[in-house]
Amino acid sequence: LYTHPSPYTISRPAHASPPVHLTGTKLACGEGGCGACTVMISRWDRRADSPLHLAVNACLAPLCSVHGTSVTTIEGIGRSGALHAVQERLARAHGSQCGFCTPGVLMSAYSLLRERPHPTDAELTASLQGNLCRCTGYRPILDGLRSLCCGGGGDSSGCCGGGRGSSGCCMDAKGSGVATELFDTADLLPYDPSQEPLFPSELQLTDRYDASELRFTSDRVTWHRPVSLERLLQLKSEHPEAKLVVGNSEIGIEAKQKGAIYPHLICTSGVPELTRHSLVFVIGASVSLTRLAQLCRRLCSDAKAGGLSLEHQKRGCRALLDMLDQFAGPQIRNVAAIGGNVMTASPISDLIPLLGALGATLTLASLRGERNVAADQSFFVGYRRTAARPDEVLRSVSIPFCSERQHCYAVKQARRKEDDIAIVNAAIWVDLGPGGDQVAAARLCFGGLAPTVLSAGQAAAAMVGRRWEDGDALEAGLRQLKTEAAVAWGAPGGQAAYRSTLAASMLFRFYQRVCRDVGLPFDESAVDELDRRPLSATQVFESVPADQPIEDLVGRPVSHASAIAQVTGEAMYTDDAQAAAGELFLAPVMSDRARATVVGIDFTDALAMDGVAGFVDSRDVPGSNLYGYAFDDEPVFASSDVMFTGQFLAGVLAADRDTARRAARLVRVQYGPAAGSPVVTISDAAASDSFFPEEHWKQLTVGDVDEAFATAEHCVEGEMNVGGQEHFYFEPFSVLVEPKDGGSELLVYATSQNPSGMQSDLSKVTGLARNRIVVKVKRIGGGFGGKETRPSQLATPAAVAALKFGRPVRAVLDRWDDMAVSGGRHPVKARYKLAADRDGRLIGLRLLILLNAGCTLDMSENVAGRMLRACMETYRLASLSIEIRLCRTNLASNTAFRAFGTPQACAIMETAVSHLAESMGLSQCQIRELNLFRSGEITPNGAPVKSDNLWRCWQECLAASDYHGRLRELEVFNRASRHKKRGLSLCPIAYGIGMGKKFPLQSGATVNIYLDGSVLICHGGVEMGQGVHTKLLQVAARALQLPIGRLYIAETSTDKVPNTTASAASITTDINAPAVLDACLQLRRRLAPFVEANPTAAWEDWVGAAYLAGVSLSACGFCFNPPKEDADRRSGRGDSALYFTYGAACSEVEIDALTGDHVIRRCDIVMDLGASLNPAVDIGQVEGAFTQGCGLYTIEDLRYSPDGRLLTRGPGAYKIPGFSDIPEKLNIRLLRGSRCEHPKAVHSSKAVGEPPLNLAASVLTAIRQAVLAARLDSQVELPNGHQGQLSFQLDSPATSERIRLACGGGLVAEVSNTDGSAPWEVRPSD
Ligand SMILES: Cc1cc2nc3c(=O)[nH]c(=O)nc-3n(C[C@H](O)[C@H](O)[C@H](O)COP(=O)(O)OP(=O)(O)OC[C@H]3O[C@@H](n4cnc5c(N)ncnc54)[C@H](O)[C@@H]3O)c2cc1C
Ligand code: FES
Ligand code: FES
Repeated sequence: LYTHPSPYTISRPAHASPPVHLTGTKLACGEGGCGACTVMISRWDRRADSPLHLAVNACLAPLCSVHGTSVTTIEGIGRSGALHAVQERLARAHGSQCGFCTPGVLMSAYSLLRERPHPTDAELTASLQGNLCRCTGYRPILDGLRSLCCGGGGDSSGCCGGGRGSSGCCMDAKGSGVATELFDTADLLPYDPSQEPLFPSELQLTDRYDASELRFTSDRVTWHRPVSLERLLQLKSEHPEAKLVVGNSEIGIEAKQKGAIYPHLICTSGVPELTRHSLVFVIGASVSLTRLAQLCRRLCSDAKAGGLSLEHQKRGCRALLDMLDQFAGPQIRNVAAIGGNVMTASPISDLIPLLGALGATLTLASLRGERNVAADQSFFVGYRRTAARPDEVLRSVSIPFCSERQHCYAVKQARRKEDDIAIVNAAIWVDLGPGGDQVAAARLCFGGLAPTVLSAGQAAAAMVGRRWEDGDALEAGLRQLKTEAAVAWGAPGGQAAYRSTLAASMLFRFYQRVCRDVGLPFDESAVDELDRRPLSATQVFESVPADQPIEDLVGRPVSHASAIAQVTGEAMYTDDAQAAAGELFLAPVMSDRARATVVGIDFTDALAMDGVAGFVDSRDVPGSNLYGYAFDDEPVFASSDVMFTGQFLAGVLAADRDTARRAARLVRVQYGPAAGSPVVTISDAAASDSFFPEEHWKQLTVGDVDEAFATAEHCVEGEMNVGGQEHFYFEPFSVLVEPKDGGSELLVYATSQNPSGMQSDLSKVTGLARNRIVVKVKRIGGGFGGKETRPSQLATPAAVAALKFGRPVRAVLDRWDDMAVSGGRHPVKARYKLAADRDGRLIGLRLLILLNAGCTLDMSENVAGRMLRACMETYRLASLSIEIRLCRTNLASNTAFRAFGTPQACAIMETAVSHLAESMGLSQCQIRELNLFRSGEITPNGAPVKSDNLWRCWQECLAASDYHGRLRELEVFNRASRHKKRGLSLCPIAYGIGMGKKFPLQSGATVNIYLDGSVLICHGGVEMGQGVHTKLLQVAARALQLPIGRLYIAETSTDKVPNTTASAASITTDINAPAVLDACLQLRRRLAPFVEANPTAAWEDWVGAAYLAGVSLSACGFCFNPPKEDADRRSGRGDSALYFTYGAACSEVEIDALTGDHVIRRCDIVMDLGASLNPAVDIGQVEGAFTQGCGLYTIEDLRYSPDGRLLTRGPGAYKIPGFSDIPEKLNIRLLRGSRCEHPKAVHSSKAVGEPPLNLAASVLTAIRQAVLAARLDSQVELPNGHQGQLSFQLDSPATSERIRLACGGGLVAEVSNTDGSAPWEVRPSD
């Protein structure tokens, strides 16, 4: 199929040359950071004479590297009608929502099963370390796949809390009205490994594919695969500039992110001398990290099982294992080699510090011979530079074992526990001398502190000769580290104080560990890092009435309508469409400045490339170059002024994506002077008075706030920054525009949550009336608000190009570009003042919120409006004054994001309440409970509270979580534990459902019955994983009294249902279900006479009879279901919510006060979702939203350079929660007996998509509580003594950096900006 494959051609068949069109493998990041592209590579292990199956990231696997192996993609394991056991279990367990991550997750699990047919729970969890999912919250994925494990997981003692105890659940008792099973495990296909396909015999029987020398040449690169050391050395001597490749996990990233091209690549995985290892710990440079971990595991095992006989010899291996367990994910470890890590010489390598500390030796080989060098600073001479000569290759690494008196540990601190590179790591080795109590030698190696791995020689020297037992050695080491490990203000990487502090904390932890090992007194709470227990989870929901017919699926946990297509990889997304005849690919030319004027653009070099068809820029726009949501302030292409880094200046069109993207990089842009320096942060905007006009701000005053503050018994004041958030939907912006009829019509396939909005934007830009533009959306791989307005940025240039060239145009952003242009959740800066009476009743709130809107208005005014209302929906406040201002900055426009401004409001309100409780000496819970709205009250903006379900959720959550009992236990724990602290917080949410206006709450639907009796439904909602199609099928099936299998929803299309409201604000089901219901009931009425005439006939007979009688079998439904009033534009006043969704969550966290790490130990959530239409979908939404909220409030940390470049592009730099970030124990309950207050709600259900996200504020405030406990212990020195300790600012996200620095203590380093220089990074909320 491929005669001259380019090494840069990724192994994703859909994007390779046309002969194969397998679309199941998804490309979501292209940098090995998400696992969506996981495939299984199988090779014959000739030493073991058996096949070896490995999960790898296709996006980093050069096509040449898979020669001689067998590659299995999701299509190879099962298909609809013939599912593999892993596919069936994931589908049945509701483990896919948008489905874009699903094939990758399954291929990781499948690869594990091929190696370990009956894995343990821990092995399963480890196999998924390299996979992310943005939708599900991971629990259902684990639940489904765990059914394949031996043993299973979860609590097995006592009441399972509605979980699935092995002998059933007491709550499942008939008539209890409660159900706990979201899927039935009884009839699951057993996994039968003997049915797996055999390894291809042609690869097994001969080694000519995998053991012969190879050379592939393409126009840019030659790929060599030598199979002997001699040949490798020859090649390296012929091409000293050649790069050696093993796992490609460094080179692949360099090629992608820096556009690096290496004319010669030499793959060393076939060189036997580099792939061997020996038991005296000589590791060939090409030994993969997985193999290395296996070896270490064996050496650490019992001597009879091949382990080392002396315990102390195992110390180095254990330290290596500790590092390898935290190193990337399995897909990377399976291919990446120790040599690649060493030779990259990265300052944050996880292995180099340890090799240095253990005193390892590197053997370098060339045609001139071999030499040994120490793995220390004499070899790692600079940032990513080594002392290796150009013709030398690393042959092996030799690691000495520890002697009895030598101790070594390695630790790593990253932003996320799994699959993340280190902020700082350390490997420390000490020799306690013949007497075992005096330091004879020490090596302290740190990654992440300097441009190379830092060997703290002075600290080591200071420790030598000092006694261990009395802490003398530690004191001396810490004293010296203060200067030696100091990170200067403004140093690359930022976080200067934190990084220096970590170095000291890590030495302190090492000291405690060695004390433990040698039998000296030690602090138990300092020794270990936070441990994570296996997930245990329960779900409790109301069962359907006993008399509900079995075929009526409303209220039952029905699987997602696309589940089978998603688990088989058959589900189609925009970019999966086959290329249309004559199709061109558009690659944008993007500004690399945040604020500038464009003087000229030179396309000469780009146009000279083969395959380039031309370009488009603002001169080609046939209609208006400006469009927009609220105002037309979004340029298709910047014609002069640039507003943010990444803004589209032009587009280059070529026959394929690779050519188009390479050509776009060749376009030269000439910039002129800007009107000023870029405005990036909120402080920048305030300083330069850069705001959107006041008419867009929000302001509400109720009561006399000044009077309240004057009379209040208690009052706190504070500031809080809440960072933004990247949507990180898995499917990046994609569009395919087909011009029709000479350009008088456009057919557009797009990743959009808002097809009608995109149609309107395209109409403005092309000048075509909307009736000539059809926008279709089959499904999208996640949206979360990010695809409501922003995808028009890509669709409009593509449409302009399609019209200019008269050819179909496809455009797909890669993850980096998508993150640069798509905007996200608004970062905010707030100042609050909150007053209470003596008992804790809230009597006054003053709040000023500045919101970083980015460069255009987009939906920022609406976000601010929703934020304003959210500040007063949950707690009773006698008086308040809230003002929200919109900052205009040189960032990509911030936009809608799940929960639309309310999470920032919740973070601020709940923090202010916590702050008040701390200052009053009351529990947070007490104040919250005292101020919750009760039925019959009216919120300050005039919304009546019509139900007491907030109170019910609160009380049920208090009881289910055993809040009071656990709080007592926690206090005992905190008193006894100096360096680990726990926090417990219970937070409520009352979430007004609606859009603040009446008009958007309308929708239409078309329902067609065909003569075979099948039914096609079209409605205005977009399926993005939230399950709207599934719920609507359930509703329609009940209305038509048909089995759900006879109904189908194909796509959303503006020519089927016009003028639709965006799928947003959690109301997609609320507004579309009634429209579908309306159409179904019309049809039912039309069929009634035929049913009456022949009641025993079948459905298709009635349909046939109606047709023959000339009765229309197509009906249009419509729904307009507005709230009572529009909210006032300025003040948000008005009864503008349809109803409220309520909930409460109680979260317990533990923090490591030495490193700032945290773990969520348990979370109990109670949600009021009325009468749930589908508990599986709804609980999936609760878990997914909550996990996204945890990401927002803890680890998702957007950072920019001071001149406005996004530094956190891609999953390598921007961390969303992974499998190990969810609560260890997660109990979800849907409030029983609840019915929606709104009379027209569909079967009395409530909206769910957004509200649970805000419940993660319980995690933020629990962290705050734990930090407070640490501060009290560490006697934080602040001017006001005790009061000072209480009063502290903990911003969101509460990253490990913020937690650590807030905990205080003597190890905290102080770093100041002495020369007023610019910081290395800024946060837009600063
Ligand atoms: C998603 C992701 C996560 C990661 N996580 C981590 C992490 O947690 N910790 C960490 O430390 N790193 C991490 N990395 C970085 C990377 O995976 C490691 O450095 C890895 O060990 C590199 O090995 P490789 O075989 O893939 O190198 P390659 O990309 O194949 O090669 C890297 C460099 O080493 C040179 N080289 C390779 N072998 C030799 C040899 N024998 N002689 C001379 N030069 C040689 C190559 O020419 C090239 O310059 C991560 C990377 C990715 C993409
Ligand atoms: S697409 Fe390959 S890991 Fe994300
Ligand atoms: S289902 Fe996992 S990313 Fe959407």
